[in-house]
Amino acid sequence: MNFENILTITKGGITTITIDRPSKLNALNRSTIKELHDAFKMADEDTKTKVIILTGSGEKAFVAGADISEFADFSVAEGEHLAAEGQAILFDFIANLSTPVIAAINGFALGGGLELAMAAHFRIASDNAKMGLPEVSLGLIPGYGGTQRLPQLVGKGKAMEMILTAGMIDAQKALDYGLVNHVTNQDELLDLAKKIASKIQINSSVAIAAAITAINANYEEGENGFDTEVIQFGKCFGTADFKEGTTAFLNKRKAEFPGK
Ligand code: COA
Repeated sequence: MNFENILTITKGGITTITIDRPSKLNALNRSTIKELHDAFKMADEDTKTKVIILTGSGEKAFVAGADISEFADFSVAEGEHLAAEGQAILFDFIANLSTPVIAAINGFALGGGLELAMAAHFRIASDNAKMGLPEVSLGLIPGYGGTQRLPQLVGKGKAMEMILTAGMIDAQKALDYGLVNHVTNQDELLDLAKKIASKIQINSSVAIAAAITAINANYEEGENGFDTEVIQFGKCFGTADFKEGTTAFLNKRKAEFPGK
């Protein structure tokens, strides 16, 4: 598939998706959101892809937010539709993907950019990265899940301060907050993401998908995460990966998971 605003490459089990509008600091316009949806769906359906890395083009920004020029004249109904559609086709879509997604934050991750990184399963950052949800400085609030995911990741008090001040935090503070898992210099960011991805991809992809479902259940309205865990745990016993994993262990050899 040909994309205008993103680049995708699949190599060694890893699909890297790069948002590529550097002149607009990779701001998320409508067509980029749609292209990202299509790219994530394709990567998730591609059996060769075991891990997805999401990053931004250039040295300055991961994503500097939703494209402000597209919604400056929106009505109440259009604003609500923008948030609902974006959450459904991209942000919740990524969070619930079976294939693990690592956000490699290579610069500014603001507004929708930080929300996108927070929808990924976890985040790493380069030491020049700056993160924030500045929407209240525009007379808005975060609309792509930021009011929910930021408190889940850093705690209510820190999220309140970040959202109400509209301020930015640097990579080191994001690490202290637990918003990102690792910080490295910019040149090594993608290598670090790939190194972590290589540790993930040797494991059972069906078990990984089950683990994502169970972990996410804790954050789903009306779901009991412990019950979901029991169901997902049980399901694993019916998979070829489970047979291979346990047989390989008992025969003292490395597992070669069929991914079924
Ligand atoms: N939407 C649309 N365009 C954006 C954008 C966004 N969220 N963020 C950056 N851009 C564009 C700028 O308009 C500018 O375009 P131009 O060259 O055609 O004028 C270009 O990207 C470069 O940005 P610029 O502001 O000149 O860079 P800077 O280094 O001076 O500042 C930021 C960097 C990130 C601090 C600044 O761009 C910014 O505050 N962006 C908006 C952040 C935001 O509020 N995001 C939440 C949106 S809900």
